[in-house]
Amino acid sequence: MIKNKLAEISLPIKSELERFEELFKQSMKSNVTLIDLIARYIIRQKGKKIRPLLVLLAAKVAGGVSERTYRGAVMVELLHTATLVHDDVVDNADKRRGFWSINKIFKNKVAVLMGDYLLSRGLLIAIQGKDFDFLDIITTTVKRMSEGELLQIRKTRKLDIDEETYFRIISDKTASLLETCCQIGALSASSDEKYYEAMRKFGEYIGIAFQIRDDILDYEGNTSIIGKPVGGDIKEKKITLPLIYSLQQVPKNEAAKIKKIIKNVDKNGSVEEIIDFVKRNNGLNYASETASAYSKKAMSVLTIFPDTPSKTALQDLVDFVIDRKN
Ligand code: IPE
Ligand code: MG
Ligand code: MG
Repeated sequence: MIKNKLAEISLPIKSELERFEELFKQSMKSNVTLIDLIARYIIRQKGKKIRPLLVLLAAKVAGGVSERTYRGAVMVELLHTATLVHDDVVDNADKRRGFWSINKIFKNKVAVLMGDYLLSRGLLIAIQGKDFDFLDIITTTVKRMSEGELLQIRKTRKLDIDEETYFRIISDKTASLLETCCQIGALSASSDEKYYEAMRKFGEYIGIAFQIRDDILDYEGNTSIIGKPVGGDIKEKKITLPLIYSLQQVPKNEAAKIKKIIKNVDKNGSVEEIIDFVKRNNGLNYASETASAYSKKAMSVLTIFPDTPSKTALQDLVDFVIDRKN
């Protein structure tokens, strides 16, 4: 009996994922004991590994997994880990993946430097492997991720975000990396432009669906499952799709009242009030439907690939992303 959906999806590349895990562990090794200590802490947390999974599956459907594919998978997971470590500093978050955040245990200074270390180790893998095409793609992605986060900070301060801006933010801060995973996977396996472009689109669509689901989980998730407190986005005054939609459904004066509550959210614990408002105005249903629409787009892009267990796994991954509980 297969315990979780993700383990089931991973079956066609089980041995490849084990190899990846080993290489990922090795990639963080250092003579500096503090780095090794934190690296071991990160490994124990066991993230979902969605990004390496995408690299490996994209490679397998586009031709086959090679040494270059592994370098790509390790590179993206290092980069992803770096951004999470930095993100918890930026958001002053105490918890991540059910564990204390690195900034909580080791202080901001250490977390910022550890994030830099992980990012540079990731880029070095591409340089040492002479995968300059990877380097080109990934550097552009790091740039987009920073732009997305900074745009979000700016909009958060003003509480004036619309749907168009929301999509720009999530496309840059989240979808860009999933897009990169799929591109790199395809690139490591085939030189067929058609495959490469299809995989890029697949990554973009699944990435957008993934972040919308993440934003829904902030409203309806279970703290012990998502590994961080529910309502975190509201506390940070982050306005995401469920709330953007809900604010559009009510008269201007009511929307203004809600925004005022968000502005003062740290003074009187009114997170519940915002969650109720969103539920009352169908914000979560709307966001789920939007995520589903993107998952359908992702599915349709896959039609050009031959039917293999890896393709089925990618299709299942799309379903997992919009149904996931963490
Ligand atoms: C979290 O990504 C960051 C987002 C872009 C939402 P994941 O949900 O994949 O995090 P882990 O790696 O499984 O913890
Ligand atoms: Mg953040
Ligand atoms: Mg989130």
